[in-house]
Amino acid sequence: MERFVVEGPVALRGSVEPGGSKNTALPLMCAALLAEGVSELRNVPDLRDTRTLIRVLDTLGAKCERDGSTLRIDAREVPVREAPYELVKTMRASITVLGPLLARFGEARVSMPGGCAWGPRPVDLHLEGLERLSACIDLDHGYIDAKWPKGSRLKGAEISFRISSVGATENVLMAAVLAEGKSVLRNSAREPDVTSLAEGLVGMGAKIEGIGTSTLTVEGVDALQPLNFEVPPDRIEVGTFLTAAPATGGEITVTNCIPDHQSALLEVFRSGGLDMEVGENYIRVDGRRPMNPVEVVTAPYPGFPTDMQAQVMAACARSAGVSTLTETIYLDRFTHVAELRRLGAKIRLDGNVAVVTGVEKLQGAPVMATDIRASSALVLAACAAQGVTTVSRIYHIDRGYERIEQRLAGLGARIVREEEPD
Ligand code: UD1
Repeated sequence: MERFVVEGPVALRGSVEPGGSKNTALPLMCAALLAEGVSELRNVPDLRDTRTLIRVLDTLGAKCERDGSTLRIDAREVPVREAPYELVKTMRASITVLGPLLARFGEARVSMPGGCAWGPRPVDLHLEGLERLSACIDLDHGYIDAKWPKGSRLKGAEISFRISSVGATENVLMAAVLAEGKSVLRNSAREPDVTSLAEGLVGMGAKIEGIGTSTLTVEGVDALQPLNFEVPPDRIEVGTFLTAAPATGGEITVTNCIPDHQSALLEVFRSGGLDMEVGENYIRVDGRRPMNPVEVVTAPYPGFPTDMQAQVMAACARSAGVSTLTETIYLDRFTHVAELRRLGAKIRLDGNVAVVTGVEKLQGAPVMATDIRASSALVLAACAAQGVTTVSRIYHIDRGYERIEQRLAGLGARIVREEEPD
């Protein structure tokens, strides 16, 4: 296993460009299964998670070929309809092959994803949505078995999601585009990942209205053309780099990004009194003066993303005063709190609210990465901390950030990757 060794304190400064969005690329890669042809996706990040999904697609018999950041997926033949436990357990987003496999072939068997470090993370909304489209679903020895109803394809239906769910919206949308007749998906997630997926599907010939809103209306079609799409920049990576400014007392410009996707984060920075410049496709954040206390409440898009909660907590750890971060999406998503405390952060947990009292200095210490975003928060805090911090189990960070140490080094970080001693 590998770890990062980080020496601080360093105020990160400079300009950085994000890679393609992981959470947008993953469902689009699954969408390739919908068409009998060769799909092309550009700007696909080379991450553990995209590699895992390539393995899932290969296992199904679709042939994936990477050429730089371009990924071609040949789904002319997909002889296997089963996504095995060994792969799904390493990345729950593999569940997103369920909708497309079922919609095109009439059968799919996908391992039930387990829980994760911060809670049970059920898939009931995915299954209820597919059942509304008349799918027959059985749970069999840890697997979800889904089939068309007897004698017909999936049938369009009105579906109202009880909770806004990115994954359920994506899975059900991909099933609805090849169902017979009209579907209306209410309380759909509006995250940019869902919007890009819908746009990609429309490019394949799907008929979807209401893209970007919470009501998606789909007129099913008989077949789709291969996908041809460029993955937009990763908004969580953009947010992570921007947060490096207040977290380390530096000044960061992120180029080639979509500022509209950052509204909730920029609002938090504004309330914290940070100077910012927002251009058409770049954002500069000046964190040289300590951030004032902020109040953060995570919410579905366009609210503040749960995937940015840990990184902003690292910034609050050395801001002036008492900040609160309320987690409403995953009530237990606080595994980073104990690790940030090891670096000297003053954080009290009160149910799903973290109360952070800013301290002047953090101190280097050995810490452990626990999930993708928690680990990027630890790396930011490590850059700010005095002395040496080792961040172990960085395979978590490699799931979601491509060569993060090289890009942070480009901003002045003293960070090296090394093999973890036994
Ligand atoms: C996606 C993102 C993840 C992000 C999350 C919330 C990907 C690959 N991952 O995950 O990074 O943190 O959105 O923005 O895009 N829920 C249910 N039943 C379900 C499905 C979800 O109760 O069947 C609940 C979840 O427990 C959670 C909420 O709905 O409380 C939102 O989760 P959801 O949007 O589905 O998250 P993911 O799609 O798994």
